[in-house]
Formats: sequence, structure tokens, C-alpha cells
Amino acid sequence: MSNNRVSRRQFLNYTLTGVGGFMAAGVLMPMVRFAVDPVLATKAGGDYVLTEQKVSELTETPVKVDFTYEQTDAWYKSDVTNNAWVYKDGDKIVALSPVCKHLGCTVNWAGDKAEPNQFYCPCHSGRYEKNGKNVPKTPPLGPLDEYQVKEKDGLLMIGKVVANTMVKN
Ligand code: FES
Repeated sequence: MSNNRVSRRQFLNYTLTGVGGFMAAGVLMPMVRFAVDPVLATKAGGDYVLTEQKVSELTETPVKVDFTYEQTDAWYKSDVTNNAWVYKDGDKIVALSPVCKHLGCTVNWAGDKAEPNQFYCPCHSGRYEKNGKNVPKTPPLGPLDEYQVKEKDGLLMIGKVVANTMVKN
């Protein structure tokens, strides 16, 4: 017969520790899960957002194309609508960001009647050529950013914003 018998006191200690640990895990697990949920969440879909713009209707004149995507800020999800100035340059589809590279206002195509073939920023009279190149001696110091684009079932898809690929500095 073994001398390593468990005393009543030890048995009670083991039992209470086990039950207490089990209950603590039951309380803590949902809290931990909630805290790290945004990190564990899988990202749905690709990086491109489908727009309602038919590629066949694009011309050499830039048009404003809206696109909406879901943004997750930690636990808060919201729909964000952005837009791009989109036109055709030969077979290439060009989508430029409307965010002015001076202080972030929104640029418009042909917004200045004196320069109908340029983008114009009304905040401080910034101007850009059609390919997004900032016009010298106006406030912006860099070209408009560009969106990656692709086509799906005849509709335009807008992807990530990247540095302007058409302007050589
Ligand atoms: S923000 Fe566009 S020119 Fe200043």
C-alpha cells in the first residue's frame, strides 16, 4: 500500500483550484476573444471594389466614379464612399485620386474655366495636367496618386491607391 495518500485538506485544495480555474477560464475566454477579435478576423474579398461604371462608356474625358467599401476600425465597421477621376488613355484605363497633394482638398476636372484640360483644386488654385502631373508654380508639390484598376464583366473595379505611374520626376 502506498504512503502517498491525499489528505482531505489536499483533496479539497485540488478540487477548489480545479473548479476555480475552470470558472475563471469560462469568464476570461470570451473577454480575450473579444479583445483580439479584429486581429483574428479574416479579410473578405480581394482588394478591388466593384463600381457601377461601364468600361465601354469611358472616354478620353475624365469622369468622376464613386465606389464604396467597408472600412473596419477595430470593432467599428462603416461604409466609406470615395471617388476617382477615370478616363481612357488609348487602351489603358487611368483612375486618378481626387485628393490634392498640397493639403488634401478635392480636385475637379476642368474646374478652372481658364484651363479646361486640367484638374483644378479650388482651395489654393492648385492645378494638375490630365495625367496627374502637378503644374509648376502652383501649390501642389507632387502628382495626383493613381488607383489600380481592372475590369470585371464590363464594369470597372478600383483597387489600391499607388504613386502616379505616368509622371516621371
Ligand atoms: S489643397 Fe489643393 S492647392 Fe491647396
